[in-house]
Amino acid sequence: MGCAMQIDTPPKFASQVFPVTIDATSFRHVMRKFATGVTVLTVRDGERLHGMTANAFASVSLSPTLVLVCILKGSTTHDFVSHAGNFAMNILSADQEHLAMRFAKQIAAPTDPFADVAQHSVATGAPIFDDCVAYVDCRVVAAHNAGDHTIFVGEVQAADFGSARDRPPLLWLDGKYETFPNR
Ligand SMILES: Cc1cc2nc3c(=O)[nH]c(=O)nc-3n(C[C@H](O)[C@H](O)[C@H](O)COP(=O)(O)O)c2cc1C
Repeated sequence: MGCAMQIDTPPKFASQVFPVTIDATSFRHVMRKFATGVTVLTVRDGERLHGMTANAFASVSLSPTLVLVCILKGSTTHDFVSHAGNFAMNILSADQEHLAMRFAKQIAAPTDPFADVAQHSVATGAPIFDDCVAYVDCRVVAAHNAGDHTIFVGEVQAADFGSARDRPPLLWLDGKYETFPNR
């Protein structure tokens, strides 16, 4: 492991008990009403690259510059990020829906899913898509246990725009890809 990572203990509030009135399916349907952008998380582990479509992504802190991403435990991406200690979040444009679908396994991917994607590396070596709207390139500084996901906190090592800086972003709403029609 190439990074100092802290795993926290359960918070003291965990002992408070409230009646639970929602099941996982209803919860998912409610959360589908929360419109988000769409990213592809990329990670480099030595010579190996991996990517995953992600929308559980947020800015956390300005000083130091921190972001978070939630990753399903047991997934390939979880193994990659835990082991490599880096990740980049590529914020996608509306023109990159095919990449969102590819890295979410919603469509078949080429043997090398990165081969036809123009990319470069900046700080950590995680792939940065040339044609993204913007990106952050991070080293993992903490990993928090959160149910069936882990919240990975990344300290931003580099952040900038891609060639699609002024293109409309790709959005995710109601289980569908969308964009701003008038932007
Ligand atoms: C729009 C969208 C957003 C997603 N966001 C996340 C996310 O934030 N975290 C996550 O673990 N999976 C997320 N997923 C699911 C993963 O992209 C998908 O399960 C992927 O195939 C996992 O890759 P892996 O098995 O190589 O780790 C999302 C899927 C879609 C379509």
